[in-house]
Amino acid sequence: MNIKKITSLAQNAKSRSIVSLFDHKDRANDFSLSTPYLYLDYSKQNINEVELGKLVEIANEAGLSESITNQFNGDKINNTEERSVLHTVLRAPKEIKKRVLGEKLAGEVEAAELQMLNIVNDVQNGILTSQSGQRFTDVLAIGIGGSYYGVKVSLSALEHYRDLSLAVHVIANVDGGALEEKLKKLNPDTTLVVVISKTFTTQETLLNAKAVKQWMLSCASVKGSQVHNTAAIIEKQWFAVSSNIEAAKSFGINEKHILPMWDWVGGRFSLWSTVGLPLALAIGNENFSKLKQGAHEMDVHFKSADFKNNMPVIMALLGIWNRNALEYPTLAILPYAHSLRALPGYLQQTDMESNGKSVSREGDKLTWLTAPVVFGQEGTNGQHAFMQLMHQSDDIIPTDFIVALKGRSQYTENHKVLVANCFAQSEALMQGKTLAQVKTELFDSGCSLEEVERLAPHKTMKGNTPSNTLVMESLTPETIGSLLALYEHKIFVQGVIWQVNSFDQWGVELGKQLGARVLAAMDGGENDMLSASSQSLIARFKADSTVRN
Ligand code: F6P
Repeated sequence: MNIKKITSLAQNAKSRSIVSLFDHKDRANDFSLSTPYLYLDYSKQNINEVELGKLVEIANEAGLSESITNQFNGDKINNTEERSVLHTVLRAPKEIKKRVLGEKLAGEVEAAELQMLNIVNDVQNGILTSQSGQRFTDVLAIGIGGSYYGVKVSLSALEHYRDLSLAVHVIANVDGGALEEKLKKLNPDTTLVVVISKTFTTQETLLNAKAVKQWMLSCASVKGSQVHNTAAIIEKQWFAVSSNIEAAKSFGINEKHILPMWDWVGGRFSLWSTVGLPLALAIGNENFSKLKQGAHEMDVHFKSADFKNNMPVIMALLGIWNRNALEYPTLAILPYAHSLRALPGYLQQTDMESNGKSVSREGDKLTWLTAPVVFGQEGTNGQHAFMQLMHQSDDIIPTDFIVALKGRSQYTENHKVLVANCFAQSEALMQGKTLAQVKTELFDSGCSLEEVERLAPHKTMKGNTPSNTLVMESLTPETIGSLLALYEHKIFVQGVIWQVNSFDQWGVELGKQLGARVLAAMDGGENDMLSASSQSLIARFKADSTVRN
């Protein structure tokens, strides 16, 4: 990346007010874009047409067009794992699947899709029942990271589409408290379990799966009379999604209930695959297919629109501008929709696990920073929490506001207020309030000179915080599919320009290795590879657990 070009461009922007950019009369119109399901207003970003043009040049110099083609064609762009990155093909029409994957693999994908479709239909129609012959009332999906976030975010985003006779729950954390909380709500006789793990080796998922299996088996044996064959309950009620079929089988899952995954689908991009099973059980096959269709529409837009009119590309360039030119280290994701409450967590993984790197694809140390720290929560809650800092600290936090024009609840007045708050916050973050404005307000409200001087600095807001506002008509499977695909592509484009491999995640390995070592030390094994700090923490845990036992 030509970092010098970017930083030299930024000199002017650093001292410029965003409000002044609105002297350009048609800015709101010129700095906005539409796709079939989304509208992006980026006019509140601190950027002008010339600067944006230069960023497009940088994208061209980075070979973005070629990289997009390579990704969609299935080149092994995940070079450290020698894998293609083809989640997009899973939401594409049959002919594209055949062209990109070849007849044989496309056939396997279609067979897996059909298997999933049939499971969903059979559960919904009561053909697939529990061991005791009852209809399923609950689904418990066990997975973590990419085998969890995509399902979680879409389950809540599409809660209005859910089949109310079947409650779908997800569990990720290895904390036994989280598991207990879930199991309390479930009836083992009528719960379908799906273990989602691409590798089927992930510690947290396997431990949770073992605990749930134990719970189900022990409940079944207590009730003996109702459930004739305790082991058969696992065979009948358990499903797995994995690329490690053998491991899923040795866990005890019926081979016919194992849905395949492929190594060319990265965990954090896997919602579109069989990983989507719990979601499809919740919203039905038709809605699941609409979700994929919405994502596919974004793929088509991404592949065909010129960069200046390309929503993922523009969002990626603005992110690079904020991160590398204006040097803002964070990104706030603020969905003004309770149904999108899981979006910040989902994007933390997709963005930070993909681009949180510091060497190039070739392994050279980068001389620029990459992914921002992503955080956020649903509006308006954030306004009464961390947004104080966004308004008044010296840190500038670029923000993505996300809002639906139509609400889903009967409380239309609430929805109007929600949307008003969303629009007002982006305005407040941009405009701020100067000392002079505050003083005038205080004088006008009858404050004495002394009070004005004392209070004015505390009421001043820095403003000049850039933001995007992403607007959708309402939360539907299509809009959610498009929204998730938009961010996937944005992250990909940034990875290309930052020159990182966005599709590996070696950083999480050290924690896994040390986790195993700490666990061994807790069980009395060697601990001399660990620091004195960790050794003393382990000793404290051991002493305490002796007391507890
Ligand atoms: O967090 C690391 C990670 O490897 C993610 O990339 C992945 O989505 C998650 O763990 C779960 O992995 P698996 O699906 O193999 O259980």
